Amino acid sequence: MSSRFDIIHKDVAGRIGRLTTPHGIVETPTVMPVINPNLQTVKPSEMKDFGAEILITNSYIIYRKEELREKALKDGLHALLDYEGPIMTDSGSFQLSVYGEVEITNEMIIDFQQKIGTDIGVPLDIPTPPDVHFRRAEEEMEITIERLKAARKMVAGDGMLLAGPVQGSTYPELREGCARTLSEVGFDIYPFGAVVPLMESYRYADLVDVIAASKKGLDPTAPVHLFGAGHPMMFALAVALGCDLFDSAAYALYAKDRRYITSRGTYHVDNLKYLPCSCPVCISHSAEELKKAHNCTELLARHNLYVTFGEVREVKQAIWEGNLLELVEQRCRSHPRMLDALKQMYTYSGWLEELDPASKSTFFYCGPESSKRPEVLRFGEQLDRFNIAGSALIRSSPVKSESLYDNVLVFKPPFGSYPLELAEIYPLNAEVLRAPDHESLEQAYLNTIRLAELNPDAQFTFLVQDRSDHPLLKKLGGMDNFTVVYSQSE
Ligand code: GUN
Ligand code: ZN
Repeated sequence: MSSRFDIIHKDVAGRIGRLTTPHGIVETPTVMPVINPNLQTVKPSEMKDFGAEILITNSYIIYRKEELREKALKDGLHALLDYEGPIMTDSGSFQLSVYGEVEITNEMIIDFQQKIGTDIGVPLDIPTPPDVHFRRAEEEMEITIERLKAARKMVAGDGMLLAGPVQGSTYPELREGCARTLSEVGFDIYPFGAVVPLMESYRYADLVDVIAASKKGLDPTAPVHLFGAGHPMMFALAVALGCDLFDSAAYALYAKDRRYITSRGTYHVDNLKYLPCSCPVCISHSAEELKKAHNCTELLARHNLYVTFGEVREVKQAIWEGNLLELVEQRCRSHPRMLDALKQMYTYSGWLEELDPASKSTFFYCGPESSKRPEVLRFGEQLDRFNIAGSALIRSSPVKSESLYDNVLVFKPPFGSYPLELAEIYPLNAEVLRAPDHESLEQAYLNTIRLAELNPDAQFTFLVQDRSDHPLLKKLGGMDNFTVVYSQSE
């Protein structure tokens, strides 16, 4: 069977893709609004108007309620929701994780999802919470894998797409192993499960570890769904790590709590003096009117959906332009736990570098974390490509005396020193700080030390044109083939 996921554009581990389902093609990354079959403020048929391309609902909730079950079996899921586009259904695993048991088996819920005509079905996986003992995480993961294999045997390769949720709690080795085993079996999408407790407690750095470990076990071209992730603040980060699908109950749940979502975080509507948004809700109401509206919950749900899909398009545009990491670095400054997550993501720069396109839009230095970007790491790894012989001047900006040297190298933090001819080549054409910070200088000096070590026969003169007194500058000055000259005037 040919792949039902085509990647059309990439940046970092993120991508714009097209997922083919029985009810149409879905362009990713995207968010699936969660539809509650019992009560729904924004109708499924309206979701397209916000930018939704696929919905998600819960087959177990439909199954449990006779009236819904009978209608779904008779007329189909799409008629039940009055929505003709793609629909994914979850299995009741979430209820299993909250209430401890459910009244169905894996086989029953898979059979039911097929009978009601779901586009993407989910087996009854076990969402193991974070931080449980290793033995429990492993045992539950093995039961999940057995159920997924049983589901795979029940579902032919050409109708309903089948999801294979990756579990393994907070153990990277279990996550990676689980993903690898599921890949061998072969599923149509791979949700990363049981991450809701991590997000609820702002453990975004741990979430990064879970995503990275799970991704490493998968074929990089497989579509990934981050189960239960619906806050737009973290879309850019999760997409950069290779997630393609999200689901949002947040738009409705937050609205019920009178909360107003933005891509930088969440406001309580009663604290809003202004509405920092231009969606149809926010331009037709003042903050006071919104607070007092009899249908405030519905208005908030609508605003929340607008900003959610606005952020989806922002992320897609960033992938298209090749500046997703700049967007990630901006979004991760909204909350200190997100900044923790950004730093954690860059501990995986070696892995990201393998997936990142070699050339994209101009690298913008957005803060100390940018010194750890995959592009900087790649530059450092390729220093052995420069063969420098004779005298070499390293300078930040042009000086008159440079014609006296055999080689002219540019010093540009966070990269380091490189031949002048490469100055306009990506990523060295970066926009960087005029006054470099400590982190970018450190990275640049480390790479310059390495360059001098790799070219022991060259004689380097380093013209320091700022007032930097970084400790590594002393180390450079102490090298046999290195002279540091301080320039004030030139
Ligand atoms: N919804 C949120 N997390 C999960 C999960 O781990 N598995 C399933 N099936 N649904 C979820
Ligand atoms: Zn709005």
